[in-house]
Amino acid sequence: MSDAAFQRRAASIEDDVDVLYSQEAIAQRVRELGAEIAAAHPGGDLVLLSVLKGSFIFAADLARAIPLPLRIDFLGLSSYGGKTESSGVVKITSDLTRPIEGAHVVIVEDIIDTGLTMAYLLDNLATRHPASVEICALLEKPSRAQIRVPIQHKGFVIPDHFVVGYGLDFDERYRNLPFVGILKPSAQRAAGNGS
Ligand code: IMP
Repeated sequence: MSDAAFQRRAASIEDDVDVLYSQEAIAQRVRELGAEIAAAHPGGDLVLLSVLKGSFIFAADLARAIPLPLRIDFLGLSSYGGKTESSGVVKITSDLTRPIEGAHVVIVEDIIDTGLTMAYLLDNLATRHPASVEICALLEKPSRAQIRVPIQHKGFVIPDHFVVGYGLDFDERYRNLPFVGILKPSAQRAAGNGS
């Protein structure tokens, strides 16, 4: 595909979305979060636990913003529900590659909405006896919370909108947008019609 064709295709995807946080605003906040996490863990030896799929881009940027020795591991979770709602019934689709017993774990999550997924994950990780567990979430939608989970490191607090981009999806699309934006209802309807 030519550069021009690529630009046209990218622009049509971006038409579905109103920008909420630009690429630059996210990069600045991720740098701040990295410094905050480093300051909270002067001893280093962290495990960054990236929750897949939504946090993969955030985790990649955050890891490079933390000037400490650390490990990165991934946990695949999928929650049963509709395209824009999670049910709180969570399935582990791929597990950690190493034990976290005695480790200082920072969970890296894209968004905390109802809190049900994170509450499940905290319970699950507790059975593996880490030394400590903190949460770093890029986004929080507190108006939708059903369970309050402690978020030690928080990127942005957002109103009740369905957002996509920077790893977040709608029906597996839009993860590759470099910014976070609000998905227009027309785009949600079009996807619902299979178009
Ligand atoms: P919770 O269990 O309701 O807190 O939802 C957590 C998961 O639902 C997140 O990790 C996302 O994968 C997904 N999710 C919740 N809200 C949004 C959104 O606005 N856009 C994209 N995914 C979302």
